[in-house]
Amino acid sequence: MTRQLFVTTALPYANGPFHVGHIMEYIQADIWVRFQRMRGHEVKFVCADDTHGAPIMIAAEKAGQTPQAFVAAIAAGRKAYLEGFHIAFDHWHSTDAPENHELAQSIYLALREQGLIAERTIEQFFDPAKGMFLPDRFIKGECPKCGAKDQYGDNCEACGAVYSPTELKNPYSALSGATPVLKTSSHFFFRLSDARCVEFLKDWTQTPGRLQPEVLNKISEWFGTDEAGAPKLADWDISRDAPYFGIRIPGTQDKYFYVWLDAPIGYLAALKGLMGPAFDAYVADPAVEQVHFIGKDIVTFHTLFWPATLHFSGRKTPNHIFVHGFITVSGEKMSKSRGTGISPLRYLELGLNAQWLRYYIAAKLNARVEDIDFNPEDFVARVNADLVGKYVNIASRAAGFLAKRFGGALSADLGVEGRMLLDALRAHAGTVAQLYEEREFGKALREVMALADRVNEYVDQHKPWEIARQPGQDAALHDVCSVCIEAFRLLTIYLKPVLPALAAEVEAFLQVGPMQWADAQRALGRHTIAPYRHLMQRAEAAQVDKLFEPPAPAEPPKALPGGEDIAAEIGIADFAKVDLRIARIVDAALVEGSDKLLRLTLDAGEGRLRNVFSGIRSAYAPEDLKGRLTVLVANLAPRKMKFGVSEGMVLAASHADEKAHPGIFLLDPAPGAQPGMRVR
Ligand code: 2FM
Ligand code: ZN
Repeated sequence: MTRQLFVTTALPYANGPFHVGHIMEYIQADIWVRFQRMRGHEVKFVCADDTHGAPIMIAAEKAGQTPQAFVAAIAAGRKAYLEGFHIAFDHWHSTDAPENHELAQSIYLALREQGLIAERTIEQFFDPAKGMFLPDRFIKGECPKCGAKDQYGDNCEACGAVYSPTELKNPYSALSGATPVLKTSSHFFFRLSDARCVEFLKDWTQTPGRLQPEVLNKISEWFGTDEAGAPKLADWDISRDAPYFGIRIPGTQDKYFYVWLDAPIGYLAALKGLMGPAFDAYVADPAVEQVHFIGKDIVTFHTLFWPATLHFSGRKTPNHIFVHGFITVSGEKMSKSRGTGISPLRYLELGLNAQWLRYYIAAKLNARVEDIDFNPEDFVARVNADLVGKYVNIASRAAGFLAKRFGGALSADLGVEGRMLLDALRAHAGTVAQLYEEREFGKALREVMALADRVNEYVDQHKPWEIARQPGQDAALHDVCSVCIEAFRLLTIYLKPVLPALAAEVEAFLQVGPMQWADAQRALGRHTIAPYRHLMQRAEAAQVDKLFEPPAPAEPPKALPGGEDIAAEIGIADFAKVDLRIARIVDAALVEGSDKLLRLTLDAGEGRLRNVFSGIRSAYAPEDLKGRLTVLVANLAPRKMKFGVSEGMVLAASHADEKAHPGIFLLDPAPGAQPGMRVR
C-alpha cells in the first residue's frame, strides 16, 4: 500500500542563519523522507521561516529594516544551506504568507466558536519610552534573591533563582533602559484547562506510536496538579499587544497572535503553498500521515498546544511527533552568542563533502531523544574507515579489471560463493528498511557496514589482483569482479537515503536509472557499466580542523590601484541575482546631444536586439566597437533616458577618480564565448 506522508521539520526563526543543529534536524528528516520515497511512498516535505514575534521585530528595527524586509533577507540565504547539504524540501514557505494569516484566523475563530477562548485582563511591564509591553527576556534588573545585577526577567544566572519579572529589583528595559511601569491590558487565552482539552490530550498523547516513550513520560507531568491542587495545564495566553510583528486577531485593532500560536499553523500554510487548491482535501484525508520532526526544546508546543489547536478547530491531528536531542561539538553545547559550534556554510566553503556530514550524523542518530556529539577526530576516522575504506573501495577494487579486461561487461554467472554472498546481502533489505523506518539510522548503517565487511572478506579471499596474473583464469576474475559490482550496487541502495548525490554518481557509473528499494531484489545480470571515476575523497584532519579556526581577520584595506575600497561582502545568492551575458555589439553610434554616450545595439542571443546607452564615448569610436563581444547586465530594469530606453548595461573598468586617471576599458570575453552565454 502506498503511504501518503506529510512531513515537516520545525520552522526556524527568521532571525539568523542556520546552525549545525538545524542542519542535523533537516538531515534526519531528509534521510527518512528519501527512504520513504525509495519505498514507493508519496511524501510532501515542507518547511518555512518562523517570522513573527517581538525578538524579530526588534532585530529588524535595529537593522533599520521593516520586519518583512528583514525576514526576506534571511529567507534568501536559506537555499545555499539546503542545496549544499542535499536537503530536498518540496517547498519552503513563510509564516507571514497570506495562507498562514488566513489559516490562523480561521482556526482561532473555530476555537472561539467552541467556547475555548477566554478574555482576561493581565498586568505586565510596559516600556514607557518604547511604548510597548516588554517580553520577559527584555526586562533586566537585580536578582531578588542574591542581588546580582543585570539579570534577566525570568531567572538569575548567578544563583539560579527562578522568579517573575515583577520580582526583579530596580528593573529596567533592555531596549531603552527606561524603568518599566506596570500596565494592564486584555489578553486572549486558549482554555487548555477546560476538561475537554485535558481529556482529549490525555488520550491523544497516549495513543501508541504517536510519541516516543520518554516524551510521553515527560509531558505526562502536565496532567497532574500542583501543590495547591490546581491543574498544571493552565490556560495559554495567545495574544500580544501592538506593536507586534504577527497576525492580527480578528475582531481587534491592536492585538496579534502570540508567535507560538501561528508558527505550527505555518506547517499547514507551507503545505498549502505547495499544493494550492488540493490542500484542503489532502490535509483532511485520514489516510494522510502527518509527521513532525522537532527538537527536544519544543515538545510541549507540539504535543499539547498544537494537537489541541488542531482538534478543537475541527482538524486532523499529527500522527507522529519525532523528537531528537541536541548536537554538541566536541562535547560542548553550542552557543550562538559565544560563537562556538561549527558553521555549516564554512563547512561547505572549505570544500568539505556534505555527504560526510550526512553520513556521520546519520551514524550517530537513533530513535531516542539523545544528544549527539560532533567530534572532529571521530568524524575523520569514521568517514574514512566506513565510506572510503569499506564501501567505495569495493567498486574501485573491481572496476579497473572489468574495464580493462572485459570492456565493462558484467558476467552473469558469478559462481556459487558469489551468489551466496549476494543472496545474503539481499536478505538484509528488510532489516535495514525497518531500521530506517524506525529512525534507527545508526543501527541501519552499522548493518550496512557489516555487509560491506563481508564483501571485502570475499575480495580478500578471492584476490582478484592475483587471479588477474594467472593465465586461463579470465572467467574467475570476471565473476569475482562482477560480484563486487553487484554487491556495491546493493550497498548503494541501502546507503542512498543518506548519500543521495553519491548514489546518483553510482547510478551513472552502473548505467542504471534512479534506484528504488525494491531494486535490491533484482540482479543486474548481463549488463555493461561505465568506466569508474573515483567516487569519494578521504577526509583530511587538517581540512576539518579549519572548521574550528576563527575565520581570517579582514585585512585592513590597502589603497587599491582602482582608487576604491572593495564593496561590502555579499553572498553567492546576491551575486547570482545579477544576470551577466555575453553580447555582440552589432552596431554602435554617436548620440546626438550627448558627449558621453554611445548608442549600442546588442545581440545577447535572445532572438531580438537590445538598445543600450553606454557612457564610453570618450574611450571608443563607434566603428571600433562593431562586431566586438562584451558583457551585458541582462536583467537590469530598463531605464528611460532623454534619448530613449536603455535595456541593460555593458561592463567596463575605470578608476574611481576618472579625471586624474582617465580611461574606460570595456570587458572583452576570451575567444570562443558566444552571445547569450551566462557569465558566472
Ligand atoms: O524553536 C524554534 O526555533 C521555533 N521557531 C520552532 C517553531 S516550530 C513550529 F511550530 F513552527
Ligand atoms: Zn541571584
